[in-house]
Amino acid sequence: MNVRESGIDEGISEVIVTTRSASGTFNAAPIGIITTTNEHFVKLYKRSRTFTNVQETKKLAANITSDTVLFVKAALDNLGEAHYSSLSSFPVLKEANSWILFQAVLAEKSTEYSLFQLTPLTIKINRKELKAINRGRNAVIEATILATRYLRVNDEREKEELKKQMARYAKIAEKCGGHREKEAIRILEEKPFVIV
Ligand SMILES: Cc1cc2nc3c(=O)[nH]c(=O)nc-3n(C[C@H](O)[C@H](O)[C@H](O)COP(=O)(O)O)c2cc1C
Repeated sequence: MNVRESGIDEGISEVIVTTRSASGTFNAAPIGIITTTNEHFVKLYKRSRTFTNVQETKKLAANITSDTVLFVKAALDNLGEAHYSSLSSFPVLKEANSWILFQAVLAEKSTEYSLFQLTPLTIKINRKELKAINRGRNAVIEATILATRYLRVNDEREKEELKKQMARYAKIAEKCGGHREKEAIRILEEKPFVIV
């Protein structure tokens, strides 16, 4: 089974992780898959739905996509039922280029985060996508990470700083992105916390 061929590479690969609760409710959130030479891990924030679901089912699916609108929606809203398809009876995102279903085993825990080691169970490649580096796409990802951080912090000065950084990335997305990046930024701007 070749995880590399599915789009996950050494370093941290930003994907949308889909999970299922014990009672069967689906969830999607952007998460970084950490890859060393030949091992895969995720570090999950304990107050996330993704963490709770992985604890309950010991499984997660990595959905490889470069669609920035999906990243923003998965981070800040819920993806509707219509986005989901199924891989070995596990929820995955229809629009993703590839899917990797992983077994997740707890490797390390701290007060805020838990580290899980991942073993691939099933891989499906739907399409191979060639895309040049686009600063607009990358900037949306950075702005979305800052937005999720913003929602977690309470300190007003830290919030102001995060907003400033988000505004900088929004500018790059507007300048270098295509229509999906512009839409992604519009969704971020609709949120109460964001960007001037
Ligand atoms: C690109 C990107 C990467 C992220 N990586 C992680 C990660 O590795 N671990 C994590 O706990 N949260 C990560 N987050 C934050 C979560 O996506 C965010 O907290 C989300 O709201 C959790 O949703 P949930 O409660 O539905 O699981 C990331 C966010 C973005 C935008």
